[in-house]
Amino acid sequence: MKYAVIYDSPTGNTKMLAEEIKRYMDRQSGSTEECLYFGEPVPDVANVEGLSEAEIIFAGFWTDKGDSGAKLAGFLESLHGSRVFLFGTAGFGGSQEYFSRILNKVATHLAPDNTVAGRYMCQGKMPVTVRKRYESVLEKNPEDERMKSMIENFDRALPHPDISDMENLRNVLSAL
Ligand SMILES: Cc1cc2nc3c(=O)[nH]c(=O)nc-3n(C[C@H](O)[C@H](O)[C@H](O)COP(=O)(O)O)c2cc1C
Repeated sequence: MKYAVIYDSPTGNTKMLAEEIKRYMDRQSGSTEECLYFGEPVPDVANVEGLSEAEIIFAGFWTDKGDSGAKLAGFLESLHGSRVFLFGTAGFGGSQEYFSRILNKVATHLAPDNTVAGRYMCQGKMPVTVRKRYESVLEKNPEDERMKSMIENFDRALPHPDISDMENLRNVLSAL
């Protein structure tokens, strides 16, 4: 199956999923030739030669205020008549409902003549500066329960994406 992987991943979490997808697809076909594009959504990516031949486009995003980052959103908006697999990472996790809400929002960037072939999300670690910011808020107000749970979530996110996130991703891919 000819495919392309386009991802936006400023801190590398979503890139890890993108690489796993490429490994999986190349192993399935026994070749690296089916990959038409692997990389970031450069401005003219929708016109990259051969991309229109992709039978499936894997589009990866990081979560920015409950939506995909603007770069990936712009790419999704440029697609027509494509089969798209949406995948992404978010700093918060723990519930499929949360991921579903984000994925539904990201899917609104696709024109109705595209189809969503599959979707996958997992948690992704955040930069340590984020924890420092939480800590300084908590220092000023040690009873701030919300900040305590933000710190707990930050620590839970640290190992992600992990081995089981990759396994879950492969399971979703195997249903394609
Ligand atoms: C400016 C900014 C906004 C973010 N907004 C959210 C958000 O709304 N929800 C969430 O779960 N994570 C949010 N995050 C966390 C990132 O989505 C998460 O760490 C993601 O795995 C980063 O992916 P990347 O490593 O591929 O860049 C935000 C991070 C930054 C820096």
